[in-house]
Amino acid sequence: MSGAVTALVPAAGRGVRLGADIPKAFVALRGRSLLWRAVHGLLESGCVDEVVVAVAAEDAGHAAHALAGVDRVRFVTGGAQRSDSVRAALDAVPGTDVVLVHDAARCLTPGSVIRDVVAAVRAGHPAVVPVLPVTDTVKQVDAGGAVVATVDRSALRVVQTPQGFDAALLRRAHAGDGGPATDDAGLVERLGERVTTVPGHPHAFKITTPFDLAVDEAVLG
Ligand code: CTP
Ligand code: MG
Repeated sequence: MSGAVTALVPAAGRGVRLGADIPKAFVALRGRSLLWRAVHGLLESGCVDEVVVAVAAEDAGHAAHALAGVDRVRFVTGGAQRSDSVRAALDAVPGTDVVLVHDAARCLTPGSVIRDVVAAVRAGHPAVVPVLPVTDTVKQVDAGGAVVATVDRSALRVVQTPQGFDAALLRRAHAGDGGPATDDAGLVERLGERVTTVPGHPHAFKITTPFDLAVDEAVLG
């Protein structure tokens, strides 16, 4: 698949678990916001034509300031759930061929991961996710916290972003009414369509808590 690549960046969350006094996307890491780093990383990868950022209505000014001077970026108003924010951004790019969906909170994702995802979509895989093996032992528990089973981790993967899609497929996935999903590939799975994996990278982890911010500091250092 040839044609334009548009990256959608949901950045309309509140960052409750991070607990900063501003939304997570605008928290700074070494003088640059997570949002700036995420958008800059996408554009620097060399395979993204345009970025559409979804931010909460009250953060529009904040977002424009955070990305002042960055070309090829547009803004839309996000929604109550992450999937609402992605849908709002998707609606703003009727013409694109390949869509990436990338969390602002995964702001240190290497360019190689972004390029690998785009290359896999271009090679004919309509839905692509970067993944890592699970290194911890994983147990299933009951409602009372008692262990029910030790899960075979060899078949498990941790999923990252950017997730890449044939734009038409992602539109179809978001048009469905199957309730919220924590990632976009989950919506594609509900259609019964195949989702392909490519290797992710430890640096593409999501900043959720203050501890994660400290890890990112260490990565940058
Ligand atoms: N996001 C969004 N719109 C929402 C909720 C989340 O665009 N209504 C975005 C976040 O800004 C983030 C990404 O989706 O870039 C992943 O979500 P998460 O890590 O959960 O971020 P927050 O929702 O901001 O954090 P928390 O759940 O701790 O409040
Ligand atoms: Mg959230």
